[in-house]
Amino acid sequence: MSKWKHKHLMDLQDTTRDDIELILETARSFKEVSSREIKKVPALRGKTVAMLFAEPSTRTRVSFELAAKRLSADTLAIQAAASSLVKGETLLDTALNIEAMNVDLVVVRHGASGAPQILANGTSMSIVNAGDGCRAHPTQALLDIFTIKEKFGSLEGVKVTIVGDILHSRVARSNIAGMIKMGAHVVVCGPSTLLPVGIEEMGVEATTDINKALKGADVVMALRMQKERQQDAFLPSIAEYVREFCITPERLKMANARALVMHPGPTNRGIEIAAEVADGPQSVILEQVTNGIAIRMAVLYLLLGRKT
Ligand code: CP
Repeated sequence: MSKWKHKHLMDLQDTTRDDIELILETARSFKEVSSREIKKVPALRGKTVAMLFAEPSTRTRVSFELAAKRLSADTLAIQAAASSLVKGETLLDTALNIEAMNVDLVVVRHGASGAPQILANGTSMSIVNAGDGCRAHPTQALLDIFTIKEKFGSLEGVKVTIVGDILHSRVARSNIAGMIKMGAHVVVCGPSTLLPVGIEEMGVEATTDINKALKGADVVMALRMQKERQQDAFLPSIAEYVREFCITPERLKMANARALVMHPGPTNRGIEIAAEVADGPQSVILEQVTNGIAIRMAVLYLLLGRKT
C-alpha cells in the first residue's frame, strides 16, 4: 500500500486507488474508537482544526468536529454568516487570519467551486474540501465507498446506480471519480435536463430510463434536487419527477434483492426517496453517517498526524 503524500484533500480526481485504499484502511482502524466508552485517542494532540462553513451543513460539519475531537485535536467552528465575511472580508483574508492564530488544518465548505483550492494556494495550512459548489465532496464519496466495501468486501464489479439531480451534485461527481477507480460499474439516471452533457467521459453509463438503471443494481443511491443551485427550471414539476424517478418500494424491487439503499442526506422524503425505502431494511443511510466520522478521522490523521 502506498504512503500518504498529500497535504490537502480537494477531490478524489487527485487521488490514486492506493490513496483511497489507505484512507479506507485507516478509517477501518479508527471506527472502533467511536464505540469505546472513552471515545478518544491522542493521535492529533496539540493540533488545531478549524471548520469554515459558508454553506449550511449538518452531517459534514458535525462529523468533522467529532472526528477531530476524537483524535484529541483542538477545534473551532466558524460560521460564515456570523464571521467578518459578512463585512466584506475575502475568504482568503479570513483564512490568512486563521493561519495567523496557528491553526494547522481548515475544513472548508463553500458555494463556489474551487474555493478550497484558493485557500490551499494562498495559505500554508492543510485544506480539506467539505463540498465546493457543484464540483466535489470527497469525504462524502469516501464514506459512501467505505460503506459499500464494508457490506460487499469490494467495489470491483459492483453496479452502483445514482438517481437524481446529477447536474448539480458534487456528491455524484466525487462518487463517480472514486467508485470508478475502485472498479465499480456506475450508472447515473435522471431527467435529461439534470444529466450533465458528456458525463459518460467520466466512465459512467448515463440513462433517463429508471427501469434500466435499477435493473440488477447492487447499490441504489438517491440524490436530492439541489434547488439552491438550480438557476433555471429543469423540471416541469416536482410531481412529475416523483412519478418518474422517486425510489419507491415498487421500483426498488427492480434492483438486486440485497441491494443497498444509500443517500448522502439531507433527504427530501417523498420526492427522491419514499419514506418506506429510506427507513426500510435495505437502507444504510444512517450507517453512512456513522462511517463519516471514521473516514474524517482517517483524513485528518493522514493529513496531520503523519507530520508528528
Ligand atoms: N451529505 C452532506 O454533505 O450533508 P450536510 O450538507 O448535512 O453536511
